[in-house]
Amino acid sequence: MLNIALPKGRLGDKVYRLLAGAGYDCREVFDDSRKLVFESEDAGVRYFLVKPSDVTVYVEHGAADIGIAGKDILLESGADVYELLDLGLGKCRMCVAAKNGYVEDPDRTLKVATKFANIAKRYYASLGREIEIIKLNGSIELAPLLRLSDVIVDIVESGKTLKENDLCVVREIFPISARFIANKASYKFNAAAIDEMISRLSAAIREEGEA
Ligand code: PRP
Repeated sequence: MLNIALPKGRLGDKVYRLLAGAGYDCREVFDDSRKLVFESEDAGVRYFLVKPSDVTVYVEHGAADIGIAGKDILLESGADVYELLDLGLGKCRMCVAAKNGYVEDPDRTLKVATKFANIAKRYYASLGREIEIIKLNGSIELAPLLRLSDVIVDIVESGKTLKENDLCVVREIFPISARFIANKASYKFNAAAIDEMISRLSAAIREEGEA
């Protein structure tokens, strides 16, 4: 039985559809229940529904053998796991954004509001730019509007949130998509089953691309 950490929410729904289409169906997952564990003996899988930002924690510690996490979560957590496949789902971008018309003063420490403190620190360290991190947990776009920060480092998908709050992208840091990850020890012991899942998922992704 492969234990799979599946992110709850929109991305998880898409990922689950892909897995089900590849033969790893578990009918109960879309039930309206509050259950967090679902298994299908026939398909040889047990799904755990976890918060997207916790997927790497379950996989790194071996509580789940494999999982699906955004590249943003992988880079922020620095988790020591194998990244085995880009699912091409949940595409968005990690960006620096600011109020329309914002002009940076290079002589001042830059105030950066973000959920992604490690990513922001690494990015600005690579530029040699001194910053102060203001760690928030959501609604990051408010920070520059209230002068809590100069800029934000955040995910941009459609760009709607920025637009509706009079903000714009200043720089793109990296593109994001969902990745198939595995615990290092689990991969050693379950290589055949995990490789089989990867090849079936790759085929399902190709078919969707051609459809
Ligand atoms: C994310 C992100 C942006 C928004 C971007 O927030 O932090 O706020 O989505 O999407 P868009 O470009 O399509 O508008 P999320 O919905 O995860 O909520 P949060 O404010 O709790 O972080």
